[in-house]
Amino acid sequence: MTKAKESAPSSLQTLSSIAATINSLEDPDRLLERILESAMQAIDAERGFILLVSPNGLPDLEVKGYLNFKEAELGELERISRSAVTEVIRSGEPLLLYEAQKDDRFGSTNSVVVEQIQSIACVPLTLKSRRIGAIYLDSISQRGRFTRDSLPLLTAIANQSAVAIENARLYQSIREENRRLRGEIQRIHGFNEIIGRSRPMREVFETTSRVIDSDASVLIQGESGTGKELVARAIHYNGHRKDKPFVAVFCGSLPDELLESELFGHRKGAFTGAVSDKKGLFEVANHGTIFLDEVGDLSPRMQTSLLRVLQEGEIRRVGDTDIRRVDVRIVSATNKSLEDLTGSGDFREDLYYRLNTIDIVLPPLRRRGSDIDLLAHHFLDQFAVDGRSGIRGFDEPALDAMRSYPWPGNVRELENVIERAVVMCGRELIGVDDLRLRPPEKQDPFEPGTTLKDMERIVTFRTLDELDGNISEAAKSLGVSRRWLHYKLKEWGPDSP
Ligand SMILES: Nc1ncnc2c1ncn2[C@@H]1O[C@H](COP(=O)(O)OP(=O)(O)O)[C@@H](O)[C@H]1O
Ligand SMILES: [Mg+2]
Repeated sequence: MTKAKESAPSSLQTLSSIAATINSLEDPDRLLERILESAMQAIDAERGFILLVSPNGLPDLEVKGYLNFKEAELGELERISRSAVTEVIRSGEPLLLYEAQKDDRFGSTNSVVVEQIQSIACVPLTLKSRRIGAIYLDSISQRGRFTRDSLPLLTAIANQSAVAIENARLYQSIREENRRLRGEIQRIHGFNEIIGRSRPMREVFETTSRVIDSDASVLIQGESGTGKELVARAIHYNGHRKDKPFVAVFCGSLPDELLESELFGHRKGAFTGAVSDKKGLFEVANHGTIFLDEVGDLSPRMQTSLLRVLQEGEIRRVGDTDIRRVDVRIVSATNKSLEDLTGSGDFREDLYYRLNTIDIVLPPLRRRGSDIDLLAHHFLDQFAVDGRSGIRGFDEPALDAMRSYPWPGNVRELENVIERAVVMCGRELIGVDDLRLRPPEKQDPFEPGTTLKDMERIVTFRTLDELDGNISEAAKSLGVSRRWLHYKLKEWGPDSP
Protein backbone atom coordinates (compact mmCIF):
# COMPACT_ATOMS: atom_id res chain seq x y z
CA MET A 1 0.00 0.00 0.00
CA THR A 2 1.51 3.33 -1.04
CA LYS A 3 1.06 6.51 0.91
CA ALA A 4 1.60 8.81 -2.06
CA LYS A 5 -1.69 10.63 -2.49
CA GLU A 6 -0.81 12.25 -5.81
CA SER A 7 -0.61 8.90 -7.59
CA ALA A 8 -3.81 7.50 -6.06
CA PRO A 9 -4.89 4.45 -8.04
CA SER A 10 -8.02 4.62 -10.14
CA SER A 11 -11.16 2.91 -8.86
CA LEU A 12 -10.69 0.22 -11.44
CA GLN A 13 -7.13 -0.48 -10.36
CA THR A 14 -8.19 -0.53 -6.73
CA LEU A 15 -11.01 -2.91 -7.50
CA SER A 16 -8.94 -5.29 -9.57
CA SER A 17 -6.18 -5.48 -6.99
CA ILE A 18 -8.76 -6.06 -4.24
CA ALA A 19 -10.43 -8.76 -6.30
CA ALA A 20 -7.11 -10.51 -6.85
CA THR A 21 -6.29 -10.48 -3.14
CA ILE A 22 -9.60 -11.57 -1.73
CA ASN A 23 -10.07 -14.28 -4.29
CA SER A 24 -6.79 -15.84 -3.30
CA LEU A 25 -7.73 -16.16 0.37
CA GLU A 26 -9.23 -19.36 1.67
CA ASP A 27 -9.16 -18.68 5.40
CA PRO A 28 -12.50 -16.98 6.18
CA ASP A 29 -11.15 -14.82 9.04
CA ARG A 30 -8.26 -13.46 7.02
CA LEU A 31 -10.62 -12.89 4.14
CA LEU A 32 -13.08 -10.75 6.16
CA GLU A 33 -10.21 -8.72 7.53
CA ARG A 34 -8.90 -8.04 4.04
CA ILE A 35 -12.35 -7.08 2.79
CA LEU A 36 -12.75 -4.60 5.61
CA GLU A 37 -9.33 -3.12 5.02
CA SER A 38 -10.08 -2.67 1.34
CA ALA A 39 -13.51 -1.18 1.90
CA MET A 40 -12.23 1.22 4.56
CA GLN A 41 -9.37 2.27 2.41
CA ALA A 42 -11.64 2.83 -0.58
CA ILE A 43 -13.75 5.48 1.17
CA ASP A 44 -11.31 6.56 3.86
CA ALA A 45 -13.37 5.16 6.72
CA GLU A 46 -11.86 4.69 10.16
CA ARG A 47 -13.72 1.74 11.51
CA GLY A 48 -15.77 -1.10 10.16
CA PHE A 49 -17.40 -4.42 10.77
CA ILE A 50 -18.99 -7.12 8.68
CA LEU A 51 -22.25 -8.78 9.54
CA LEU A 52 -23.16 -12.09 7.98
CA VAL A 53 -26.51 -13.75 7.80
CA SER A 54 -26.04 -17.16 9.28
CA PRO A 55 -26.28 -19.68 6.46
CA ASN A 56 -29.54 -21.11 7.78
CA GLY A 57 -31.72 -17.98 7.76
CA LEU A 58 -32.05 -14.24 8.07
CA PRO A 59 -32.81 -13.19 11.65
CA ASP A 60 -29.46 -14.47 12.80
CA LEU A 61 -27.00 -11.72 11.99
CA GLU A 62 -23.55 -12.15 13.37
CA VAL A 63 -20.59 -9.82 13.45
CA LYS A 64 -17.89 -11.80 11.76
CA GLY A 65 -15.05 -9.34 11.58
CA TYR A 66 -14.24 -5.82 12.70
CA LEU A 67 -11.42 -3.31 12.60
CA ASN A 68 -10.47 -0.42 14.91
CA PHE A 69 -13.29 -0.96 17.38
CA LYS A 70 -12.99 -1.51 21.06
CA GLU A 71 -14.88 -4.62 22.01
CA ALA A 72 -17.42 -2.69 24.15
CA GLU A 73 -18.11 -0.05 21.53
CA LEU A 74 -18.64 -2.69 18.93
CA GLY A 75 -21.21 -4.51 21.04
CA GLU A 76 -23.19 -1.37 21.70
CA LEU A 77 -22.97 -0.06 18.17
CA GLU A 78 -23.96 -3.35 16.68
CA ARG A 79 -27.04 -3.44 18.87
CA ILE A 80 -28.01 0.11 18.03
CA SER A 81 -27.29 -0.09 14.32
CA ARG A 82 -29.00 -3.41 13.86
CA SER A 83 -32.22 -1.95 12.46
CA ALA A 84 -30.32 0.11 9.88
CA VAL A 85 -28.19 -2.83 8.83
CA THR A 86 -31.21 -5.12 8.67
CA GLU A 87 -32.89 -2.61 6.40
CA VAL A 88 -29.87 -2.54 4.10
CA ILE A 89 -29.86 -6.31 3.92
CA ARG A 90 -33.59 -6.47 3.30
CA SER A 91 -33.71 -3.74 0.65
CA GLY A 92 -30.40 -4.57 -0.98
CA GLU A 93 -29.73 -0.81 -1.18
CA PRO A 94 -26.69 0.90 0.32
CA LEU A 95 -27.19 3.48 3.04
CA LEU A 96 -25.31 6.72 3.68
CA LEU A 97 -25.82 8.80 6.83
CA TYR A 98 -24.17 12.16 7.35
CA GLU A 99 -25.52 12.95 10.77
CA ALA A 100 -25.93 9.57 12.21
CA GLN A 101 -26.75 10.63 15.71
CA LYS A 102 -29.81 12.49 14.47
CA ASP A 103 -31.16 9.65 12.41
CA ASP A 104 -34.33 7.85 13.51
CA ARG A 105 -32.91 4.52 12.64
CA PHE A 106 -30.61 4.83 15.59
CA GLY A 107 -33.55 5.69 17.78
CA SER A 108 -33.50 8.43 20.37
CA THR A 109 -30.49 6.94 22.02
CA ASN A 110 -28.16 8.88 24.20
CA SER A 111 -25.36 6.52 23.45
CA VAL A 112 -21.92 8.07 23.62
CA VAL A 113 -20.83 5.60 21.03
CA VAL A 114 -23.38 6.97 18.57
CA GLU A 115 -22.73 10.56 19.60
CA GLN A 116 -19.20 10.34 18.25
CA ILE A 117 -20.13 9.12 14.80
CA GLN A 118 -20.07 11.58 11.97
CA SER A 119 -20.83 9.45 8.90
CA ILE A 120 -21.91 5.92 8.24
CA ALA A 121 -21.85 3.86 5.05
CA CYS A 122 -23.46 0.47 4.92
CA VAL A 123 -23.57 -1.74 1.81
CA PRO A 124 -25.25 -5.11 1.37
CA LEU A 125 -23.25 -8.20 0.46
CA THR A 126 -25.31 -9.63 -2.35
CA LEU A 127 -24.89 -12.93 -4.12
CA LYS A 128 -27.16 -13.16 -7.14
CA SER A 129 -30.46 -12.39 -5.43
CA ARG A 130 -29.38 -13.60 -2.02
CA ARG A 131 -28.21 -11.15 0.64
CA ILE A 132 -25.58 -12.76 2.76
CA GLY A 133 -24.73 -9.81 5.00
CA ALA A 134 -23.51 -6.24 5.03
CA ILE A 135 -20.38 -4.14 5.45
CA TYR A 136 -20.71 -1.34 7.99
CA LEU A 137 -18.18 1.51 7.90
CA ASP A 138 -18.06 4.75 9.82
CA SER A 139 -16.07 7.85 10.54
CA ILE A 140 -15.85 9.66 13.84
CA SER A 141 -13.63 12.52 12.84
CA GLN A 142 -15.15 14.46 10.01
CA ARG A 143 -18.78 15.39 9.46
CA GLY A 144 -20.30 14.47 6.12
CA ARG A 145 -17.20 12.72 5.07
CA PHE A 146 -18.69 9.95 2.91
CA THR A 147 -20.34 11.05 -0.31
CA ARG A 148 -22.56 9.37 -2.88
CA ASP A 149 -19.53 9.29 -5.21
CA SER A 150 -17.92 6.61 -3.12
CA LEU A 151 -20.91 4.27 -3.35
CA PRO A 152 -20.24 2.64 -6.78
CA LEU A 153 -16.74 1.57 -5.76
CA LEU A 154 -17.94 0.39 -2.38
CA THR A 155 -20.77 -1.58 -3.97
CA ALA A 156 -18.38 -3.17 -6.43
CA ILE A 157 -16.08 -4.18 -3.59
CA ALA A 158 -19.06 -5.62 -1.72
CA ASN A 159 -20.14 -7.66 -4.74
CA GLN A 160 -16.67 -9.10 -5.19
CA SER A 161 -16.48 -9.80 -1.50
CA ALA A 162 -19.78 -11.64 -1.41
CA VAL A 163 -18.51 -14.10 -4.00
CA ALA A 164 -15.23 -14.56 -2.16
CA ILE A 165 -17.00 -15.08 1.18
CA GLU A 166 -19.32 -17.65 -0.32
CA ASN A 167 -16.37 -19.46 -1.93
CA ALA A 168 -14.43 -19.47 1.31
CA ARG A 169 -17.45 -20.86 3.15
CA LEU A 170 -17.97 -23.55 0.55
CA TYR A 171 -14.29 -24.34 0.53
CA GLN A 172 -14.30 -24.65 4.29
CA SER A 173 -17.36 -26.86 4.37
CA ILE A 174 -15.90 -29.07 1.66
CA ARG A 175 -12.65 -29.29 3.59
CA GLU A 176 -14.52 -30.29 6.73
CA GLU A 177 -16.60 -32.79 4.81
CA ASN A 178 -13.44 -34.16 3.26
CA ARG A 179 -11.79 -34.55 6.65
CA ARG A 180 -14.88 -36.28 8.00
CA LEU A 181 -15.08 -38.66 5.03
CA ARG A 182 -11.39 -39.47 5.28
CA GLY A 183 -11.87 -40.42 8.91
CA GLU A 184 -14.89 -42.48 7.95
CA ILE A 185 -12.99 -44.25 5.16
CA GLN A 186 -10.11 -45.02 7.50
CA ARG A 187 -12.53 -46.41 10.06
CA ILE A 188 -14.33 -48.55 7.47
CA HIS A 189 -11.04 -49.91 6.19
CA GLY A 190 -9.55 -50.57 9.59
CA PHE A 191 -8.43 -53.98 10.69
CA ASN A 192 -11.37 -54.08 13.08
CA GLU A 193 -13.62 -54.57 10.10
CA ILE A 194 -11.83 -57.74 9.09
CA ILE A 195 -13.52 -60.47 11.06
CA GLY A 196 -11.71 -63.65 12.03
CA ARG A 197 -10.12 -65.40 14.98
CA SER A 198 -9.17 -68.69 13.38
CA ARG A 199 -5.50 -69.56 13.37
CA PRO A 200 -4.94 -68.92 9.65
CA MET A 201 -6.61 -65.51 10.00
CA ARG A 202 -4.53 -64.64 13.05
CA GLU A 203 -1.46 -65.33 10.95
CA VAL A 204 -2.80 -63.04 8.25
CA PHE A 205 -3.32 -60.23 10.79
CA GLU A 206 0.15 -60.70 12.14
CA THR A 207 1.87 -60.48 8.78
CA THR A 208 -0.35 -57.63 7.67
CA SER A 209 0.30 -55.50 10.70
CA ARG A 210 4.03 -55.99 10.23
CA VAL A 211 3.98 -54.77 6.61
CA ILE A 212 1.73 -51.72 6.88
CA ASP A 213 4.48 -49.24 7.59
CA SER A 214 6.94 -50.49 5.04
CA ASP A 215 6.80 -49.80 1.33
CA ALA A 216 7.46 -53.41 0.40
CA SER A 217 5.34 -54.97 -2.33
CA VAL A 218 2.67 -57.28 -1.02
CA LEU A 219 1.10 -60.16 -2.91
CA ILE A 220 -2.22 -61.39 -1.53
CA GLN A 221 -3.28 -64.82 -2.68
CA GLY A 222 -6.57 -66.53 -2.04
CA GLU A 223 -9.71 -67.79 -3.68
CA SER A 224 -12.32 -65.39 -4.92
CA GLY A 225 -14.30 -63.78 -2.07
CA THR A 226 -11.78 -64.47 0.70
CA GLY A 227 -11.23 -60.78 1.47
CA LYS A 228 -8.13 -59.94 -0.59
CA GLU A 229 -9.32 -56.46 -1.43
CA LEU A 230 -10.35 -55.88 2.17
CA VAL A 231 -6.82 -56.68 3.34
CA ALA A 232 -5.29 -54.55 0.58
CA ARG A 233 -7.34 -51.54 1.71
CA ALA A 234 -6.51 -52.14 5.37
CA ILE A 235 -2.81 -52.14 4.49
CA HIS A 236 -3.15 -48.81 2.71
CA TYR A 237 -5.46 -47.04 5.17
CA ASN A 238 -3.39 -47.97 8.21
CA GLY A 239 0.01 -47.13 6.79
CA HIS A 240 1.79 -43.83 6.29
CA ARG A 241 0.29 -43.40 2.81
CA LYS A 242 -3.25 -43.30 4.11
CA ASP A 243 -3.89 -39.67 3.15
CA LYS A 244 -2.88 -40.35 -0.44
CA PRO A 245 -4.93 -42.25 -3.00
CA PHE A 246 -5.69 -45.95 -2.97
CA VAL A 247 -6.27 -46.94 -6.59
CA ALA A 248 -7.65 -50.37 -7.45
CA VAL A 249 -7.06 -51.71 -10.95
CA PHE A 250 -8.71 -54.83 -12.24
CA CYS A 251 -6.13 -56.49 -14.47
CA GLY A 252 -8.24 -59.37 -15.78
CA SER A 253 -10.11 -59.28 -19.07
CA LEU A 254 -9.10 -55.82 -20.27
CA PRO A 255 -7.45 -55.74 -23.71
CA ASP A 256 -3.76 -54.78 -23.44
CA GLU A 257 -4.11 -51.45 -25.25
CA LEU A 258 -6.83 -50.32 -22.88
CA LEU A 259 -5.09 -51.51 -19.74
CA GLU A 260 -1.85 -49.90 -20.86
CA SER A 261 -3.44 -46.50 -21.32
CA GLU A 262 -5.36 -46.94 -18.03
CA LEU A 263 -2.19 -47.72 -16.10
CA PHE A 264 0.29 -45.42 -17.78
CA GLY A 265 -1.90 -42.76 -19.36
CA HIS A 266 -1.58 -41.45 -22.89
CA ARG A 267 -0.75 -38.43 -24.90
CA LYS A 268 -3.34 -36.67 -26.99
CA GLY A 269 -3.45 -38.30 -30.43
CA ALA A 270 -1.50 -41.39 -29.37
CA PHE A 271 -4.30 -43.49 -30.88
CA THR A 272 -7.77 -43.02 -32.29
CA GLY A 273 -9.93 -41.79 -29.45
CA ALA A 274 -7.11 -40.25 -27.45
CA VAL A 275 -8.68 -36.81 -27.68
CA SER A 276 -6.73 -35.32 -24.82
CA ASP A 277 -3.75 -36.03 -22.58
CA LYS A 278 -4.66 -38.45 -19.85
CA LYS A 279 -2.98 -39.34 -16.58
CA GLY A 280 -2.53 -43.03 -15.95
CA LEU A 281 -3.54 -44.70 -12.69
CA PHE A 282 0.11 -44.95 -11.60
CA GLU A 283 0.26 -41.16 -11.68
CA VAL A 284 -3.10 -40.86 -9.95
CA ALA A 285 -1.83 -43.14 -7.19
CA ASN A 286 1.42 -41.21 -6.76
CA HIS A 287 2.59 -41.33 -3.12
CA GLY A 288 -0.27 -43.72 -2.43
CA THR A 289 -0.97 -47.36 -3.18
CA ILE A 290 -1.95 -49.11 -6.37
CA PHE A 291 -3.88 -52.36 -5.98
CA LEU A 292 -3.41 -54.68 -8.93
CA ASP A 293 -6.31 -57.09 -8.69
CA GLU A 294 -6.12 -60.42 -10.55
CA VAL A 295 -2.52 -59.73 -11.46
CA GLY A 296 -2.18 -63.35 -12.63
CA ASP A 297 -4.29 -62.46 -15.65
CA LEU A 298 -1.77 -60.00 -17.08
CA SER A 299 -0.58 -60.81 -20.60
CA PRO A 300 3.16 -61.35 -21.17
CA ARG A 301 3.38 -57.92 -22.79
CA MET A 302 1.76 -56.19 -19.82
CA GLN A 303 3.94 -58.16 -17.42
CA THR A 304 6.98 -56.74 -19.15
CA SER A 305 5.67 -53.15 -19.00
CA LEU A 306 4.78 -53.52 -15.36
CA LEU A 307 8.17 -54.97 -14.49
CA ARG A 308 9.83 -51.95 -16.07
CA VAL A 309 7.80 -49.59 -13.88
CA LEU A 310 8.66 -51.53 -10.75
CA GLN A 311 12.35 -51.61 -11.60
CA GLU A 312 12.74 -48.00 -12.70
CA GLY A 313 10.06 -46.26 -10.65
CA GLU A 314 9.22 -44.42 -13.85
CA ILE A 315 6.38 -44.42 -16.33
CA ARG A 316 5.93 -43.13 -19.83
CA ARG A 317 2.46 -42.26 -21.11
CA VAL A 318 1.48 -44.06 -24.30
CA GLY A 319 2.66 -41.98 -27.27
CA ASP A 320 4.76 -39.72 -25.09
CA THR A 321 8.53 -39.28 -24.86
CA ASP A 322 8.64 -37.74 -21.38
CA ILE A 323 9.57 -39.98 -18.49
CA ARG A 324 7.71 -39.36 -15.23
CA ARG A 325 8.83 -40.57 -11.83
CA VAL A 326 6.21 -42.19 -9.65
CA ASP A 327 6.36 -43.28 -6.02
CA VAL A 328 3.70 -45.91 -5.58
CA ARG A 329 3.35 -48.84 -3.24
CA ILE A 330 2.27 -52.01 -5.01
CA VAL A 331 -0.22 -54.39 -3.49
CA SER A 332 -1.39 -57.11 -5.83
CA ALA A 333 -3.84 -59.97 -5.56
CA THR A 334 -4.58 -63.14 -7.42
CA ASN A 335 -6.85 -66.14 -7.05
CA LYS A 336 -4.46 -68.26 -9.07
CA SER A 337 -1.21 -69.67 -7.83
CA LEU A 338 1.40 -67.33 -9.27
CA GLU A 339 4.05 -69.81 -8.34
CA ASP A 340 2.40 -72.38 -10.59
CA LEU A 341 1.91 -69.85 -13.37
CA THR A 342 5.61 -69.09 -13.09
CA GLY A 343 6.44 -72.78 -13.26
CA SER A 344 4.40 -73.23 -16.41
CA GLY A 345 5.98 -70.14 -17.99
CA ASP A 346 2.76 -68.13 -17.97
CA PHE A 347 4.07 -65.55 -15.52
CA ARG A 348 7.48 -63.86 -15.54
CA GLU A 349 9.56 -65.09 -12.66
CA ASP A 350 11.34 -61.73 -12.18
CA LEU A 351 7.97 -59.97 -11.92
CA TYR A 352 6.71 -62.58 -9.51
CA TYR A 353 9.63 -61.89 -7.16
CA ARG A 354 9.11 -58.14 -7.45
CA LEU A 355 5.46 -58.39 -6.48
CA ASN A 356 5.95 -61.00 -3.86
CA THR A 357 8.30 -59.34 -1.37
CA ILE A 358 5.68 -60.15 1.22
CA ASP A 359 3.23 -62.91 0.70
CA ILE A 360 -0.16 -63.06 2.38
CA VAL A 361 -2.33 -66.10 1.81
CA LEU A 362 -6.01 -65.85 2.67
CA PRO A 363 -7.46 -69.26 3.52
CA PRO A 364 -10.75 -70.33 1.98
CA LEU A 365 -13.69 -69.95 4.35
CA ARG A 366 -14.24 -73.69 4.67
CA ARG A 367 -10.85 -73.87 6.42
CA ARG A 368 -11.56 -71.15 8.93
CA GLY A 369 -13.70 -73.21 11.29
CA SER A 370 -15.12 -70.96 13.99
CA ASP A 371 -14.90 -67.89 11.77
CA ILE A 372 -18.02 -69.04 9.94
CA ASP A 373 -20.16 -68.45 13.06
CA LEU A 374 -18.41 -65.19 13.75
CA LEU A 375 -18.86 -63.88 10.22
CA ALA A 376 -22.47 -65.05 10.04
CA HIS A 377 -23.32 -63.06 13.18
CA HIS A 378 -21.30 -60.10 11.96
CA PHE A 379 -23.27 -59.93 8.71
CA LEU A 380 -26.52 -60.53 10.58
CA ASP A 381 -25.81 -57.47 12.74
CA GLN A 382 -24.99 -55.52 9.64
CA PHE A 383 -28.11 -56.40 7.65
CA ALA A 384 -30.70 -56.72 10.41
CA VAL A 385 -30.33 -53.00 11.06
CA ASP A 386 -31.11 -51.87 14.62
CA GLY A 387 -33.06 -55.03 15.29
CA ARG A 388 -35.91 -53.62 13.18
CA SER A 389 -36.24 -56.93 11.39
CA GLY A 390 -36.93 -58.60 14.72
CA ILE A 391 -34.37 -61.30 13.92
CA ARG A 392 -32.35 -62.44 16.91
CA GLY A 393 -30.07 -65.05 15.44
CA PHE A 394 -29.83 -68.46 13.77
CA ASP A 395 -31.39 -71.72 14.87
CA GLU A 396 -29.09 -74.68 15.54
CA PRO A 397 -29.73 -76.54 12.24
CA ALA A 398 -28.96 -73.35 10.31
CA LEU A 399 -25.64 -72.94 12.13
CA ASP A 400 -24.80 -76.59 11.47
CA ALA A 401 -25.64 -76.23 7.80
CA MET A 402 -23.38 -73.20 7.50
CA ARG A 403 -20.53 -74.95 9.32
CA SER A 404 -20.58 -77.91 6.97
CA TYR A 405 -21.27 -76.04 3.74
CA PRO A 406 -18.13 -75.78 1.56
CA TRP A 407 -18.60 -72.06 0.72
CA PRO A 408 -17.19 -72.11 -2.80
CA GLY A 409 -17.78 -68.34 -2.97
CA ASN A 410 -16.16 -67.83 0.44
CA VAL A 411 -16.96 -64.77 2.57
CA ARG A 412 -18.66 -62.99 -0.30
CA GLU A 413 -21.10 -65.88 -0.65
CA LEU A 414 -21.74 -65.97 3.10
CA GLU A 415 -22.41 -62.25 3.06
CA ASN A 416 -24.95 -62.65 0.24
CA VAL A 417 -26.59 -65.63 1.90
CA ILE A 418 -27.14 -63.72 5.15
CA GLU A 419 -28.39 -60.61 3.39
CA ARG A 420 -31.00 -62.66 1.55
CA ALA A 421 -31.93 -64.64 4.66
CA VAL A 422 -32.61 -61.45 6.62
CA VAL A 423 -35.05 -60.36 3.94
CA MET A 424 -36.74 -63.77 3.61
CA CYS A 425 -36.96 -64.76 7.25
CA GLY A 426 -40.26 -64.03 8.97
CA ARG A 427 -39.34 -65.45 12.37
CA GLU A 428 -36.99 -64.58 15.18
CA LEU A 429 -34.41 -67.18 14.23
CA ILE A 430 -33.07 -67.74 10.74
CA GLY A 431 -33.58 -71.36 9.71
CA VAL A 432 -31.91 -73.62 7.16
CA ASP A 433 -34.59 -72.86 4.58
CA ASP A 434 -33.98 -69.13 4.80
CA LEU A 435 -30.32 -69.68 3.94
CA ARG A 436 -31.05 -71.37 0.61
CA LEU A 437 -27.59 -72.83 0.43
CA ARG A 438 -26.78 -74.19 -2.99
CA PRO A 439 -27.08 -77.96 -2.80
CA PRO A 440 -23.47 -79.08 -2.76
CA GLU A 441 -22.32 -80.58 -6.00
CA LYS A 442 -21.91 -84.28 -5.70
CA GLN A 443 -19.21 -84.44 -3.07
CA ASP A 444 -19.14 -88.17 -2.66
CA PRO A 445 -17.50 -89.74 -5.68
CA PHE A 446 -19.05 -93.10 -4.83
CA GLU A 447 -22.63 -91.85 -4.75
CA PRO A 448 -24.67 -93.77 -7.35
CA GLY A 449 -25.16 -91.78 -10.52
CA THR A 450 -21.72 -90.16 -10.39
CA THR A 451 -20.02 -90.12 -13.78
CA LEU A 452 -16.32 -90.71 -14.28
CA LYS A 453 -16.04 -87.08 -15.33
CA ASP A 454 -17.63 -85.92 -12.02
CA MET A 455 -15.33 -88.24 -10.16
CA GLU A 456 -12.26 -86.82 -11.88
CA ARG A 457 -13.26 -83.27 -10.92
CA ILE A 458 -14.20 -84.08 -7.33
CA VAL A 459 -11.02 -86.02 -6.61
CA THR A 460 -8.87 -83.35 -8.28
CA PHE A 461 -10.33 -80.50 -6.24
CA ARG A 462 -10.27 -82.45 -3.05
CA THR A 463 -6.57 -83.12 -3.58
CA LEU A 464 -5.91 -79.48 -4.40
CA ASP A 465 -7.78 -78.43 -1.26
CA GLU A 466 -5.73 -80.72 0.87
CA LEU A 467 -2.49 -79.45 -0.64
CA ASP A 468 -3.33 -75.77 -0.27
CA GLY A 469 -3.89 -75.39 -3.99
CA ASN A 470 -0.31 -76.35 -4.83
CA ILE A 471 -0.49 -77.58 -8.41
CA SER A 472 2.88 -79.31 -8.52
CA GLU A 473 2.13 -81.32 -5.39
CA ALA A 474 -1.40 -82.08 -6.52
CA ALA A 475 -0.21 -83.30 -9.93
CA LYS A 476 2.32 -85.55 -8.23
CA SER A 477 -0.28 -86.92 -5.83
CA LEU A 478 -2.82 -87.53 -8.61
CA GLY A 479 -0.21 -89.11 -10.85
CA VAL A 480 -0.81 -86.69 -13.73
CA SER A 481 1.29 -84.02 -15.40
CA ARG A 482 1.08 -80.39 -14.35
CA ARG A 483 0.17 -79.54 -17.93
CA TRP A 484 -2.83 -81.88 -17.74
CA LEU A 485 -3.89 -80.35 -14.46
CA HIS A 486 -3.63 -76.79 -15.81
CA TYR A 487 -5.63 -77.79 -18.82
CA LYS A 488 -8.36 -79.35 -16.69
CA LEU A 489 -8.54 -76.40 -14.30
CA LYS A 490 -9.03 -74.09 -17.24
CA GLU A 491 -11.78 -76.33 -18.55
CA TRP A 492 -13.63 -76.46 -15.22
CA GLY A 493 -13.21 -72.81 -14.44
CA PRO A 494 -12.04 -71.20 -11.22
CA ASP A 495 -15.31 -71.52 -9.31
CA SER A 496 -15.65 -75.29 -9.43
CA PRO A 497 -15.94 -76.92 -6.03
N1 LIG B 1 -12.73 -61.35 7.13
C1 LIG B 1 -13.76 -60.62 6.67
N2 LIG B 1 -14.53 -59.92 7.53
C2 LIG B 1 -15.57 -59.21 7.07
N3 LIG B 1 -15.93 -59.13 5.79
C3 LIG B 1 -15.21 -59.79 4.88
C4 LIG B 1 -14.08 -60.58 5.27
N4 LIG B 1 -13.54 -61.14 4.17
C5 LIG B 1 -14.28 -60.72 3.14
N5 LIG B 1 -15.29 -59.91 3.55
C6 LIG B 1 -16.32 -59.32 2.68
O1 LIG B 1 -16.56 -60.22 1.63
C7 LIG B 1 -16.66 -59.54 0.37
C8 LIG B 1 -15.58 -60.02 -0.57
O2 LIG B 1 -14.32 -59.57 -0.14
P1 LIG B 1 -13.19 -59.10 -1.15
O3 LIG B 1 -12.13 -58.43 -0.37
O4 LIG B 1 -13.78 -58.36 -2.30
O5 LIG B 1 -12.69 -60.53 -1.67
P2 LIG B 1 -11.69 -60.88 -2.86
O6 LIG B 1 -11.01 -59.63 -3.27
O7 LIG B 1 -10.76 -61.87 -2.27
O8 LIG B 1 -12.54 -61.48 -3.94
C9 LIG B 1 -16.57 -58.08 0.69
O9 LIG B 1 -17.86 -57.55 0.81
C10 LIG B 1 -15.84 -58.04 2.02
O10 LIG B 1 -16.22 -56.91 2.74
MG1 LIG C 1 -11.52 -59.14 -5.40
